[in-house]
Amino acid sequence: MTPAPIAVALDAPDLETAARWAGLVTPHVSTVKVGLELYLRYGPDVIASVRGASGVRVFLDLKLHDIPNTVSGAAKAVARLRPAILTVHASGGPAMIKAAVEAAPHTQIAAVTVLTSLSEADLGRIGIAGAADDAVRRLAAMSVEAGVTALVCSPNEVSAVRAEVGPGITLITPGVRPPGTDSQDQARVATPEQAMADGADLLVIGRPITGSPDPGAAAAAIAASLRRTSHA
Ligand code: C5P
Repeated sequence: MTPAPIAVALDAPDLETAARWAGLVTPHVSTVKVGLELYLRYGPDVIASVRGASGVRVFLDLKLHDIPNTVSGAAKAVARLRPAILTVHASGGPAMIKAAVEAAPHTQIAAVTVLTSLSEADLGRIGIAGAADDAVRRLAAMSVEAGVTALVCSPNEVSAVRAEVGPGITLITPGVRPPGTDSQDQARVATPEQAMADGADLLVIGRPITGSPDPGAAAAAIAASLRRTSHA
């Protein structure tokens, strides 16, 4: 069976736990996501540990944001690890985005549009006036023009972003919660089925899977429900 288009966020306290979760979910999902905390604590070795024998796709969520030359060097440094996906902040601008794309030709660069943790008041204080949705659409279009083939946005924005960038771009959405589960600190959430129906290609799901007593079974259940909807 084809693994489901889910990236399990391995936000684990230690490497052993992250590797164990990766092993449990890998038969059911296409991708595992390593975030800044795990990467900074354990370094590049974390990639081999979570990839294990299965060779699952690794999404390296470092959200790079610096001058183009520095981001180019950083992207080159991690490109050796062959992550399937690497994130940069869209607000780093077109030259920075292009530098990342060119530095890691075998990795899909994904631009993070607007952090979902920012309110419109926060955005105003940063200097981004107007509706968050407008900023998301603008940053999405700019990032695609600069060469990315993937974008990270909230499930609430995915249909607007899809309309803006067209069909060829991979849309990645965190903030996904199966029906009846706790939304935790995610303010704006959607179910996996809804996010896919709105045009998402890869769902980032963490705690609903990794916080379960049986992460393998939780991943399998979400994967099965996605399969049912896509065949309905
Ligand atoms: O546990 P949960 O499903 O909330 O995990 C979501 C993952 O997606 C976390 O690793 C979080 O850092 C990441 N993320 C997010 N919202 C964004 C970008 C990334 O929740 N806007």
